[in-house]
Amino acid sequence: MYYITTAIDYTNAPPHIGHAYEKVLSDVLARWHRLKGEEVFFLTGVDQHGQKVQQTAEKRGITPEQHAQEMTQKFLQLWDRLGISYDGWAETSDPRHIACVQKILLNLFNKGALYKKSYKGFYSVRQEQFLTDKERNEQGEFGPEWGEVVELEEENWYFKLSEQIPWLKDYANRSDSFVLPGFRKAEILNAIDRASEGDLCISRPKSRLSWGIEFPFDPDFVTYVWFDALINYISFAGYLNETDASLPEFNKLWPASCEVIGKDILVPAHGIYWPAMLHAMGFSDTQMPTLLVHGWWNINGEKMSKSLGNVVDPNALLDAFGKDAVRYYLVRDITTGKDSNFDVDRLVMLYNTELANDFGNLCNRSINMTRRYQKSRLTPLNGYDDDLSSQLRQSMESTVQTFSAHMDANMVGEALAILNGQVSACNGYIESQQPWQLAKDPTQEDRLNCVLRHLLECCTQIAYLISCVLPEASVRMLGQLNASEICSKLVPDHLSWGILPKCHQINDPEPVFPRILSKEEKAKLQNKAAKKK
Ligand code: ME8
Ligand code: MG
Repeated sequence: MYYITTAIDYTNAPPHIGHAYEKVLSDVLARWHRLKGEEVFFLTGVDQHGQKVQQTAEKRGITPEQHAQEMTQKFLQLWDRLGISYDGWAETSDPRHIACVQKILLNLFNKGALYKKSYKGFYSVRQEQFLTDKERNEQGEFGPEWGEVVELEEENWYFKLSEQIPWLKDYANRSDSFVLPGFRKAEILNAIDRASEGDLCISRPKSRLSWGIEFPFDPDFVTYVWFDALINYISFAGYLNETDASLPEFNKLWPASCEVIGKDILVPAHGIYWPAMLHAMGFSDTQMPTLLVHGWWNINGEKMSKSLGNVVDPNALLDAFGKDAVRYYLVRDITTGKDSNFDVDRLVMLYNTELANDFGNLCNRSINMTRRYQKSRLTPLNGYDDDLSSQLRQSMESTVQTFSAHMDANMVGEALAILNGQVSACNGYIESQQPWQLAKDPTQEDRLNCVLRHLLECCTQIAYLISCVLPEASVRMLGQLNASEICSKLVPDHLSWGILPKCHQINDPEPVFPRILSKEEKAKLQNKAAKKK
């Protein structure tokens, strides 16, 4: 079983391009593992509780439930538009999740892993948070941005994080499946050293925050952020569930194969709190999830943020360029684990070059020539071969292997680059073989047969492999190649040359990747059309 989850997105604001990236990346990986014939469960969802949601709702004059539900709909609509193939949907206000969080709290309480303590400190009334020395300015004061600051004493619940640290340090050092890419491990190890002191405050008094999950043994308190959100990965996988048939069977899904998260929530949340929580609950080393940490999309080298006003709306991109272009760009122009710069011009360029021009044209030309020169039916080869064809076969075979290796390593952008390299090799092959010349010469019939077969075979294999990134385009392409059924029986591990039958018959071509036109190109076309009238 491949159990893949993503971070659950905050419902204080609508989705942005970073959310869309994480979801597309996870969707591509889920589809890749399904293609490989693995059983896959893909969970994603929304993080609905917390102070930010409560504050935003208050400002809007609606309840936190209303605000969270409104935002949740926006996420659901976007995942639908982007074709995200999730199997489970996590909403933290779901009663099934609440029940699980409360059972975990009670179990940990009974084990003595939680305690209540009073804390005295400086509190910002405006920001509704305790301030530490980090918040003091150069003069050693809390600046005007904090509004009125009062000294306050407050009781809260704490999780004995420090008790878990020796184990975690040891586990993190030993494990090579804890965090991917590997270079992130140093970050966790450093953070563990810094975390060795102090426990984790996991509650807020209801008087201060009401929009959260109530402590089952102390109803004046709700859980705070991570003791609610992180648990989604197990609550919606059926952990501690005995009665609800709508949840999966926990033992089938867990340990999670992959939790896809952004770099900002690795430490301390996923790299320290989460394994410590799981270990305190009784999870063993082999039951720890693997964290796949991706980087961020920046804008002109700057962080995307509401205050900078540079947030990119994925819906606007979908309106302008469509699903294929957006999905392709988001996983093509970034290396998993690293940051990248979001650039609409590159989105258009990569779609027009690699999909419309290179791959789209390759399929269109190959299908068209087969229709014209061979009435859409391939002819058996009868032993004919030539060097160019043999080279193309070899490069297709190594493309399949390299593509698979990159995908298995979650390196989607690199995998797509390899696939595009094969498309270019095919287009070069057409230029060298010049099938339109061969078609004029009856003595070249065998060679023409061979060229068309090689082209259609490559188109089929590429359309099959690209299905995890562009599922709908792949279906349309394979339909024209009349290879949907053939491909439905394949797994990439056994993909080798010769999937098309000897006398394979294809269907008519139809463009799959229409070029994205620039404003100037559109205007020119409209002018032409107007003149014709
Ligand atoms: O952190 N580029 O929610 P969130 C790429 N609710 N990814 C980005 C990004 C960007 N510019 N901006 C954000 C939360 N992300 C919590 C998670 S999990 C138990 C709870 C990623 O809505 C970010 O790294 O702020 C995170 O993985 C995800 O979007 C949700 O961020
Ligand atoms: Mg965030």
